[in-house]
Amino acid sequence: MRILVTGGAGYIGSHTLLQLLREQHDVLVFDNFSNSSPEALKRVKQLANADFEICEGDIQDAGRLDQVFGDFNPEAVIHFAGLKAVGESNEKPLEYYAQNVAGSIELLKVMQWHNCRRIVFSSSATVYGDAKYLPYDEHHPLQPANPYGRTKYFIEEIIRDWAASWKVASAVLLRYFNPVGADASGRIGEDPNGIPNNLVPYISQVAVGRLKHLNVFGADYDTRDGTGERDYIHVEDLARAHLAAIDFTATHTGCDAINVGTGRGATVLEMVNAFEKASGRSVPYQIGPRRDGDVARSLAAVEKAEHLLGWKAKLDIDDMCRSTWNWQSANPEGYRQD
Ligand SMILES: NC(=O)c1ccc[n+]([C@@H]2O[C@H](COP(=O)([O-])OP(=O)(O)OC[C@H]3O[C@@H](n4cnc5c(N)ncnc54)[C@H](O)[C@@H]3O)[C@@H](O)[C@H]2O)c1
Repeated sequence: MRILVTGGAGYIGSHTLLQLLREQHDVLVFDNFSNSSPEALKRVKQLANADFEICEGDIQDAGRLDQVFGDFNPEAVIHFAGLKAVGESNEKPLEYYAQNVAGSIELLKVMQWHNCRRIVFSSSATVYGDAKYLPYDEHHPLQPANPYGRTKYFIEEIIRDWAASWKVASAVLLRYFNPVGADASGRIGEDPNGIPNNLVPYISQVAVGRLKHLNVFGADYDTRDGTGERDYIHVEDLARAHLAAIDFTATHTGCDAINVGTGRGATVLEMVNAFEKASGRSVPYQIGPRRDGDVARSLAAVEKAEHLLGWKAKLDIDDMCRSTWNWQSANPEGYRQD
């Protein structure tokens, strides 16, 4: 099947691409490389031993999208492209709304021009905001607490309206919890620019010696050991969820939001321990005050994914830490060393 992947050079995109190629899909990557490296795509080609088209372009550019859709004629789109840093979104909200929201509108418009009716969109658990109850199920109220989360919320609503107005359209909004890990080969992985915003890339950079210690924001939460608890999902499981969602859109119309998590949580200190075990390195940490906007616990209800997509996470935090370490130790500077 012909699938256009926006943001396919990024962390989750590159892992999904690998699985799409292994399943013999015909793929085109559309990416502006604002937060990724063409090196990731080169490595995906080597790992899959398969070729695919790459188009450098911005999703805000409807003309460029129109041309690419005309040439490639995709049957479905997986839409990863967008900006994703919560902190930065507070400083540059208009940039986030332009790239994420306006960019998605251009994409949906062009899809319809070319009669491409199937989309799987990268949403996020940040759409839920403060937990009214746990685990978060897909009916939980949506109250995102920052501009990044609001872009995801608005895009969800726009896709929902798009699908409602075009009766043949089919959309799956995948609400990711906390994606971590890397392909088992250690050849591709998460390669953040600058200081990582997320826990596991931060821990792995401490383990490899790029950063001195981990700052733990708060150890007085109401959790097993006082540190924040999150639902981490292995990027390989997450990639599989996209393939299942693409299959689902073949036989369904309308729009469904679906959580992608494991339903199990790990605290910051549990993750540190798992990483020390996987890497054989120590991860020094310092406990500091809570950080504004952080919640004590976040956990996904996972029944809907299993029911609608027949998908369930298989990998645990030991797999996540082992594969992250494989990647980080073989590529201490990420993709930059080649
Ligand atoms: N990683 C996470 O923790 C997480 C959690 C929830 C949701 N998400 C969402 O999943 C998607 C993928 O995340 P990721 O971690 O792989 O991020 P990433 O930054 O590694 O990948 C995003 C890709 O999109 C490209 N891109 C950005 N803006 C673009 C634009 N205007 N036009 C074309 N390409 C553009 C970037 O160059 C990059 O290759 C994002 O939409 C993100 O918001 C990520």
